[in-house]
Amino acid sequence: MSAARTVSETNADGLTLVHRGKVRDVYQIGDDRLLLVATDRISAFDCILPTAIPNKGKILTQLSAFWFARLNDLTRNHLITADFDEMPEIVRQTEDFRGRSTLVKKTKVFPVECVVRGYLEGSGWKDYLATGKVCGHDLPENLQRCEKLPAPIFTPATKAQSGHDENITEAEFAEIVGSAIAEKLKSRSLKIYRTASEYALTRGIIIADTKFEFGADANGEILLIDEILTPDSSRFWSAASYAPGKSQASFDKQFVRDYLETLDWNKQSPAPELPTEIVAATASRYSEAYRILTGEKF
Ligand SMILES: Nc1ncnc2c1ncn2[C@@H]1O[C@H](COP(=O)(O)OP(=O)(O)OP(=O)(O)O)[C@@H](O)[C@H]1O
Ligand SMILES: [Mg+2]
Repeated sequence: MSAARTVSETNADGLTLVHRGKVRDVYQIGDDRLLLVATDRISAFDCILPTAIPNKGKILTQLSAFWFARLNDLTRNHLITADFDEMPEIVRQTEDFRGRSTLVKKTKVFPVECVVRGYLEGSGWKDYLATGKVCGHDLPENLQRCEKLPAPIFTPATKAQSGHDENITEAEFAEIVGSAIAEKLKSRSLKIYRTASEYALTRGIIIADTKFEFGADANGEILLIDEILTPDSSRFWSAASYAPGKSQASFDKQFVRDYLETLDWNKQSPAPELPTEIVAATASRYSEAYRILTGEKF
């Protein structure tokens, strides 16, 4: 079996690159559309690693497309198509885009991250340990690490241009986007999380937390944008092995972070290469998450 070709960076003749994020390359298509191209880059501790993960970008792209279709009745979204063969000719000229591209409606992005947490982990757990609350939400005492919250909570963050996103209060959130929009983004985020996490649980996956982005189209309509409910934007745990009181085995890049923690690396660029076994294990986690959630082998 030949190893899948990884794509670490894309380039295309005749298309304008408008943004190169840690994972995705974004191209302008005409006036009102964008092409989001998920590469196989992986980042950890806010550094792009020099080693790419085979198929990662394709999996993120197809998993997001799966969710957009599934949640279509719940919220309007930016998706035009993630099917390469349906893309404009100018896109199809670049074979590297195949399977890893999403053609979307361009929006004016609300500069906030709409985070929903159903379980206590990550920065939520740290906040709880320090304050007994998560982003100002009152919670019962003596919750354990990774414990399920009484109800999902909305914990917005800023969308930092560079570096770490910062948690903000709902009041700060409302100041940034306006209170009417804030209410809509919050209720929509919670609704999407509830529906998606109920479905995921029927497949044996806990969506512990996740992050959504929204933007406004030319008519001022609010659209769900970016990638959704992927291992890069969410914490996925196996329901079968879930037990609070400790960190959980996950389908995201926690595995890579754990490996990097064993090294003597200061978490500044340049990051070290990943060994073959770690690459293979990470790739198989991404494809497992896809298989379990969609019911289809990637
Ligand atoms: N429909 C859309 N309209 C406008 N911008 C969008 C749309 N969907 C996604 N985006 C933007 O495209 C970009 C995708 O890039 P990507 O997520 O790779 O990088 P990033 O979020 O800027 O930085 P990071 O590397 O920290 O993730 C994001 O800035 C996202 O907000
Ligand atoms: Mg992003």
